[in-house]
Amino acid sequence: MTSTGQPPERQGARSLDPHLRRYAARAEGMTASEVRALFAVASRPEVVSLAGGMPNLAALPLDSLSDQIASIIADEGLTALQYGSAHGVPVLREQICEVMALEGVHGHPDDLVVTVGSQMALDLVTRIFCDPGDIILAEGPSYVGALGTFASYQADVRHVAMDDHGLVPEALRAALAAAERAGRRVKMLYTIPNFNNPAGVTLAVSRRAEVIEICARHDVLIIEDNPYGLLGFDGQIYPALRSMDADNVIYLGSFSKTFASGLRVGWALAPHAVREKLVLAAESAALCAPTLNQMVVSRYLATHDWKGQIKSFQTMYRERRDALLTGLDQHMPAGCTWTKPDGGFFVWMTVPEGVDTKAMQPRAVTARVAYVPGTGFYADGFGSRQMRLSFCYPPPERISEGVRRLAGVLAQEIDLLNTFGPTTSRSLSGPQTPTPDTA
Ligand SMILES: Cc1ncc(COP(=O)(O)O)c(C=O)c1O
Repeated sequence: MTSTGQPPERQGARSLDPHLRRYAARAEGMTASEVRALFAVASRPEVVSLAGGMPNLAALPLDSLSDQIASIIADEGLTALQYGSAHGVPVLREQICEVMALEGVHGHPDDLVVTVGSQMALDLVTRIFCDPGDIILAEGPSYVGALGTFASYQADVRHVAMDDHGLVPEALRAALAAAERAGRRVKMLYTIPNFNNPAGVTLAVSRRAEVIEICARHDVLIIEDNPYGLLGFDGQIYPALRSMDADNVIYLGSFSKTFASGLRVGWALAPHAVREKLVLAAESAALCAPTLNQMVVSRYLATHDWKGQIKSFQTMYRERRDALLTGLDQHMPAGCTWTKPDGGFFVWMTVPEGVDTKAMQPRAVTARVAYVPGTGFYADGFGSRQMRLSFCYPPPERISEGVRRLAGVLAQEIDLLNTFGPTTSRSLSGPQTPTPDTA
C-alpha cells in the first residue's frame, strides 16, 4: 500500500490520467468490474467461458423478427423513429403488466416506466432515493452492475447473508439493528429474489412476507430486481415481493433474458407516489427509451408465442445447468462446494480455504477456461474463496470440457497450497475468513 491507501499498481495507472484532479468525487467509485476486465480474454475461441452472463439468443425466430421489424418501419416508421414519452410506449406498458401478472403482480400501466434495460431502472431508483453515504443493503454476493451503480452514487453497501434459501431474515434484522445503533440511515434493500445473480439461489416463498414485514417496520424501501423470474427450469414461478406489497416495493423487470438483451428494454414498476419522480429522472437520463425497440418488443409479445419461447429457453438452460452440475460432481476436488440453481444462469462455487480465486484466474485462462472471481460481487473485499460459473452461453459439451479444465487447475492449486502454503498474492487479495456466502 502507498500513502494514498491505493495499491501501487492502481495508483500508477491513475496517475497517467491528466484529468485526475478534475473528476467529481462520485467518479472515484467507478472502476471496471471483474466481469468486464475478463471479457476480452474470455471471448477467445479456445477459452471455454464460464464467465459471461450473456443470454443465448440462438433459439430466437430471427426470420420472422426481421419481417416484423421491417413492417414496423413500413407501417409506423414515423412514430417508431421519433422521440417518445419518458414514460414508455403505452401499449407496451399494458403488455408488461400482463407479463408481470404471471408472478401475481397487478400493477397499473401508469405506474410503470420503460427504461433502457433494467440497468437504467436501477440507476434511476438510486438517483432518486440515495444521497452519498446512505446505506443500501444487498445480498452477499450481489449483482456486479448494481454494485457499480450504487458506488457511482456514493452509497454505502452493506451485505446481508444468504443461505440455500436466499436472504436470511435474521441477518437482515441484524444489519438493520447495526445501522440503527450506529445512527445510520438505511434507504433500501436491493434484492434479486429469484435465481440470484451470482449465487443461483432463490428466496424461499416462506421468507418473502417476513422480509417485506421487516423492511416496512424499519421504513426501508425494497428494490426487487427480477430479470430471471420466468426462467425457472421446471416452469415454476415464484410470487413477486411486489405482489405482496404494492406500497413499499419497486419492481424491476427486463426483456433481456426472456427475449433480446440488445434491444435494451426493461422497466420499473413503482408505488404510485414514486412514479412521477421516476418519469422525471428517466427524462433527464435519456429523454425516453428507444421507441423502435419498444415497438419491436410490443409486436413480439402481440404476435409470437412468447410463453412458448420462454419454455424453450428454460429447456435449453436446464440442459446447460445439468452439464455444469454433473461436471462439478464428477471432477471437482474435495473441499469445493456449490449451489444448485433451479433457474437462471449461475452457479456459485466456494473453494477450499487458502485458494484465492482471483490469484488463480490467470492459470485458469492459461488452461483455457474462464470464470469470474467472487470479489467482484461484494462491495467489501469478501469473496476471495468464491467464483461465479455461468452456464447460459456455451453448449453443454463445452461446459463439460470447461469444468474438467477448471477442476484440473484447482487440483493443482490445492496441491501447491498443501506443499508451499498460501502465496503472498493470496494473502494480499482479500480476507480468507468465512464469507457471508451461499455455500
Ligand atoms: C440481476 C440483474 N439485474 C439487472 C441486470 C441488467 O439487465 P438489463 O439487460 O435489463 O439491463 C442484469 C443483467 O445481467 C442482472 O443480472
